Amino acid sequence: MRHSDLRAIGVLCSGGDAPGMNAGVRAVTRAAIYRGIDVWGVLDGYNGLVEQRTEKLTARSVSGLLQRGGSLIGSGRCDAFLDGAVREACVAYLREQGIEGLVVLGGDGSLEGAMQLHRLGLPVAVVPATIDNDMLGTEITVGADTAVNTAMEAIDRLNETASAHSRAMIVEVMGRHCGYLAIQAGIAAGAELILTPERPVELGSIFEQMAEAVAQGKNRFVIVLAEGAQWHASELTQLINYADNPYDARFTILGYIQRGGSPSRFDRILATRMGVAAVEALLDGQSGVLAAWQRNGVELISGDELPPRADPWGASMAHVHRITAV
Ligand code: F6P
Repeated sequence: MRHSDLRAIGVLCSGGDAPGMNAGVRAVTRAAIYRGIDVWGVLDGYNGLVEQRTEKLTARSVSGLLQRGGSLIGSGRCDAFLDGAVREACVAYLREQGIEGLVVLGGDGSLEGAMQLHRLGLPVAVVPATIDNDMLGTEITVGADTAVNTAMEAIDRLNETASAHSRAMIVEVMGRHCGYLAIQAGIAAGAELILTPERPVELGSIFEQMAEAVAQGKNRFVIVLAEGAQWHASELTQLINYADNPYDARFTILGYIQRGGSPSRFDRILATRMGVAAVEALLDGQSGVLAAWQRNGVELISGDELPPRADPWGASMAHVHRITAV
């Protein structure tokens, strides 16, 4: 479809919310209105398509959204959407409403859902948004930068109390399948050890590193643990305490604190640039594309041909941590 034919688009946020989603919805809304296109917010992710719940967005209704965490139009996971017949009904509903394209903000599962709609002939563009930064095709996702800063500030506080009591402090951060948050926040806050789903370690090597830390005169041993790593925070704490280690261990799970909060400058601008690019892609007649961050700019990548993502615990990060965490 040529851009002059497009009269209305929808926008939805799907999966776990991420700081900057609102900024993305604002950018999509204003970019579309700027080009004379109506915008409908689909409420609560794909649930709003299945249950036919949409709301007209205007330049004013998205005012003040840049700095707000959460999602004004809601977000969510939707099991019903896994059914092909349900997806066909969703496309029919959008067409009945005169909604001729859709921008989806979300992570991997949301992208998969968007690609299914694209295969049914609905023009779709995706803005990658998840705090986990675990998506193929993009170097960074909306929300990851803010979540790293939130975790880093919490670890800074935990560093202080751990030092005062010469304790081991285990801090569990989010990241089901990906250690990005743990690595970034751990290095930024000077953690002694970072445990990720990508690189399991031997328990014995943790005990050795603790003994070494004591020998070096360290009055704390902070471990940042991704939620998808081999142990939960409570398990690792017990293992350390039962084994009579030099540091008495305590744990903290940061959990959903990392999902909320006002987005960082980086996430606001990232979401804004990606939101505008997604609308322009639809106007340009493109579909099934991800507004990805590559080499310091937004690039449109086909959702069917996503390049692999770099290992977040790549050699340079591991090297920097090894040298600076002694
Ligand atoms: O996908 C982002 C994420 O924050 C994961 O790190 C975490 O495991 C998950 O969401 C939790 O999501 P839910 O909202 O379904 O509990």
